[in-house]
Amino acid sequence: MPETVRISASVLAADFAHLEQEIRRVEESGCDEIHFDVMDGHFVPNITFGADILQAVRSLTSLPIDAHMMVTEPGRFAPQFASAGANTFTVHAEACSDLGATLTEIAEAGMRPGISINPSTDAAVVTRYTATVDRFLVMSVEPGFGGQSLMPEVLPNIEEIRFAGAGSELDIAVDGGVKVDNAKDVVETGADTLISGTGLFNYAEGMAAAVSRMKSL
Ligand code: DX5
Ligand code: ZN
Repeated sequence: MPETVRISASVLAADFAHLEQEIRRVEESGCDEIHFDVMDGHFVPNITFGADILQAVRSLTSLPIDAHMMVTEPGRFAPQFASAGANTFTVHAEACSDLGATLTEIAEAGMRPGISINPSTDAAVVTRYTATVDRFLVMSVEPGFGGQSLMPEVLPNIEEIRFAGAGSELDIAVDGGVKVDNAKDVVETGADTLISGTGLFNYAEGMAAAVSRMKSL
């Protein structure tokens, strides 16, 4: 079980009419990162926001930002997101015709490369990249929407990546349906970064309570 757990707040669940206050709330609650869900209406059946909004978020915080690119051929946007201030640029293995070339584009743009896989993708498809990327993001719901329930059948994907990446500095993040109540199961399988939207923004006792419970499992 990893010693420290990082909490990444998915701003998809924020109140966009009060984005600045929401970012303050994320910072004051002890979150370690901002998770920024980019959807193109093609790779996933929904559209969210792009680099201009990321740049606005960047101006509000110094927390690291992970751009989770649920976008077909995301490499073409790497320079734009790097200039907007993304620190990590996480792409779906299923969305790239040449994943190796996309990872090179991300690194050349000056961001930390990350690979995400859908629930139905076997981790074995991507384990050869454990030495070349900084982050693996295991989807625990079908990408496209916040507020879904975590699919426990994806947990073996975390174990497999943890095993393949043993000894490396790799982060293993889990995204989708992560809540205070299931955080322990996710971390015990080997994840060290918990990405959560509704589980943080809508937690009845407040975001700070959710963060402290997720960090003290
Ligand atoms: C889903 C997104 C997730 C989502 C998580 O496609 O990638 O990041 O915002 O939201 P919750 O935690 O509410 O499932
Ligand atoms: Zn996401």
